[in-house]
Amino acid sequence: MHDHRTFLENPAALFCLILLDLQPEMLCRTRPLLLLLSHHKVSSTTRISSSLFQQAFYETPKNFFCSSDRSTTSSSRLFSSSSTDSNNINMAKGGSIVRASDKIGIKQLFDDDSSTYTYLLWDPDTKDAVVVDPVDIQVDRDITAANELGLNLVYGVNTHAHADHITGTWLLKQKIKGLQSVISEASKAKADIHIHHGDRIVFGSRYIEARATPGHTEGCLSYVADDQSFVLTGDALLIMGCGRTDFQGGSAETLYESVHSQIFSLPDGTIVYPAHDYKGRTQSSVGDEKENNPRLGSGKTKAEYVEIMANLNLNYPKHIDVAVPANLRCGAPDV
Ligand SMILES: [Fe+2]
Repeated sequence: MHDHRTFLENPAALFCLILLDLQPEMLCRTRPLLLLLSHHKVSSTTRISSSLFQQAFYETPKNFFCSSDRSTTSSSRLFSSSSTDSNNINMAKGGSIVRASDKIGIKQLFDDDSSTYTYLLWDPDTKDAVVVDPVDIQVDRDITAANELGLNLVYGVNTHAHADHITGTWLLKQKIKGLQSVISEASKAKADIHIHHGDRIVFGSRYIEARATPGHTEGCLSYVADDQSFVLTGDALLIMGCGRTDFQGGSAETLYESVHSQIFSLPDGTIVYPAHDYKGRTQSSVGDEKENNPRLGSGKTKAEYVEIMANLNLNYPKHIDVAVPANLRCGAPDV
């Protein structure tokens, strides 16, 4: 006759218990054993005798707490047998599990003419997807990429009303039935859906969260992945730089506050994906920008940053007079 200690110290028992199709009352009685055995490693070479099986399943230790007596065991069966008394059963539905190890799918696309990055983001399970900062002359490329990945594009999203290119959201709406355009309310641009700080854009079981990051324009939003693995910063924070602050309601003081409070507050490992890069760089990280961004990082004070931005002496943007009015129309032609 084995005592309980003998059984508990045999790690192969856990493996054997899992293999068996236990009845609910058996599960209840053996749960304490399972919990305790889970602390033991299971050896693939270990054998368990038939007598030990019998002890495991038919000799419930009296001193183990078991939360389920025969009446509660019956209720467990009722849960899986709706035909017995369906009027008294509340049905649970609508939940979902997002595995921490799964990442939002992301594809970065580049427009040479405006040095703009467009992003496809998708739920790896459902393939529901959004496109962020599409460019009008690149929508066929974006649709082809989405089709190759088997994506279902549901939203065309902009980080702000761009001044250097025309958004592709209006054209995408003409080519993809049901796609809706999204931009901030503060941008004053037309769109199907206007959003605010803290709103979430959901695709499948995943989402990106909008964070208001004004300063480059009044309506700039950054989009943070649900697991904070990346942030799309638009023009608020560029790789080792930032968007200019001298038009479209821009403000250096405001942008400094936005970047420090909404982007630099993310984990150092969060990947920074900007809307543009002019030197072939594709991504950075919050930690790297905090440490090395020559305008906003390296301990620069707000006053130092404001002085830097006031002395950039930038040229007037060559497409601004066409791009901004078009983007305020969601990229639609002026008719
Ligand atoms: Fe911009």
